[in-house]
Amino acid sequence: MIGDKAVQLLETIAHLRASLQTHSRDKTVGFVPTMGGLHAGHLSLLHRARQENDIVVASIFVNPLQFAPGEDFDRYPRPFDRDRQLCREAGVDLLFAPSVGEMYPLGNAETARIVPPATMTTGLCGRSRPGHFEGVATAVTKLLQIVRGDRAYFGQKDAQQLAILRRIVTDLNIPVQVVGCAIVREPSGLAYSSRNHYLSETEKQQATVLYRSLTAAETAFTKGDRDVKTLVRCVRDELATVSNLEPDYIELVHPETLMPLDRVDSRGLLAIAARLGSTRLIDNIILRSRRPIIAIDGPAGAGKSTVTRLVARRLGLLHLDSGAMYRAVTWRVLDAKASPKDEAAVKSLLAECHLEMTTNEAGETQVAVNGKDITREIRGPEVTANVSAIAAMGAVREFLVAQQQRFGELGGLVAEGRDIGTQVFPDAEVKIFLTASVGERAKRRQRDLQQQGQDPPSLEVLEAEIARRDELDSTRTLSPLRKAKDAIEIQTDNLTIEEAIDAIISWYRAFSMNNYQ
Ligand code: PAF
Repeated sequence: MIGDKAVQLLETIAHLRASLQTHSRDKTVGFVPTMGGLHAGHLSLLHRARQENDIVVASIFVNPLQFAPGEDFDRYPRPFDRDRQLCREAGVDLLFAPSVGEMYPLGNAETARIVPPATMTTGLCGRSRPGHFEGVATAVTKLLQIVRGDRAYFGQKDAQQLAILRRIVTDLNIPVQVVGCAIVREPSGLAYSSRNHYLSETEKQQATVLYRSLTAAETAFTKGDRDVKTLVRCVRDELATVSNLEPDYIELVHPETLMPLDRVDSRGLLAIAARLGSTRLIDNIILRSRRPIIAIDGPAGAGKSTVTRLVARRLGLLHLDSGAMYRAVTWRVLDAKASPKDEAAVKSLLAECHLEMTTNEAGETQVAVNGKDITREIRGPEVTANVSAIAAMGAVREFLVAQQQRFGELGGLVAEGRDIGTQVFPDAEVKIFLTASVGERAKRRQRDLQQQGQDPPSLEVLEAEIARRDELDSTRTLSPLRKAKDAIEIQTDNLTIEEAIDAIISWYRAFSMNNYQ
């Protein structure tokens, strides 16, 4: 963060670039593009960007290209002073608010466009808003090129927009990580939206039926209904309880490709749009047919790895051992005789590194790379000596997070780390934050060292080391230690390992009982 001062407002591309050049050398930049009218949904994006980056840039630009003639471009809310104040409170460093002339100097019609794939724009909102996503893609691509941030944050509420932007970033090799953030809802269940501003109090109350209808379908889904017809019927029946609400679409599609689905085999995006009076509202939910995921995060020395291994064994789940995954990549690098310091060489090996993890009959995790079982090899001294250099590479982490998420599609696993519940599996069904006081962790460490026949340092020295490690782990740029908002904290100072395991298993059972009956 640049400092606790008023957010710096920049209205031209040149000024923004100059300011970024001064402030962002060797710093990470998080970018939150908005059209203003900020609400709790936007604030959650700003807070996440604030947590994960050194510099936060937000933009406010009501983009004419994404409004069709007759849509609400002119009356779209523009409470600029309030937005600016909210940005300041959320710790935004730079606020970019260009005019239409600055963004499209040759005029809207003359501007080169980014055209998303037709398969992604013909359904859902694309059907009734032709040209909308081309307008979004054009503005966002320009903004990403202007800001050149490390991460860009978008809400899951605009699920079609998010999927299209992810595809554009991938296809056009734009060097930014797209971060999708969960929908934020009012206590009534109504998703926050700048357009809620148009609703009367009665309409706001009526609009809660959108989320109710999605949760009705979700309940049917968790009871075993997978078929599009049944799920859509659930939504339609619930929406029909509000007479002046006119559904525009109710669709079940693949969350990434947006292709229509007949049934949910692994994941489905159930999305709706409806008109209430003159206001068009959208909402969605992701349905997953996978088994639950348990994410265990916490500081070093809290007993995560032992607990995770044993929880997996007791519940018959896969232990997604991320340490073993880093070791597997290290083994691959050494096996290919590449230097573990050569990031470019490591990166090119990743492209052909097919990782598999399974559990054998004894409940032990088995690791294979490109079909070869290397469970034993990854524990060798050469791998041990090189694994931290490999683990420090951003490209390796990105590759392994993608692999972990691929395993996560099937679910039925336990994973531990520092950011499993916040970054790797933000939608994990059971999130645990396993912790212990610094004093207790120092005692445990001292005991472990004694048991290994070593002469351990004093408790004071160990406590100072642990506190320093905690500080480092929670401030590091790459996968910092974070407790997810919805994590259950288990303090293990006065618990045995067995008691900690029992506590996690009862949370898992409570979840399964409520959701998989
Ligand atoms: O979601 C929005 O507010 C807009 O579509 C965006 C991404 C800022 C592009 O104009």
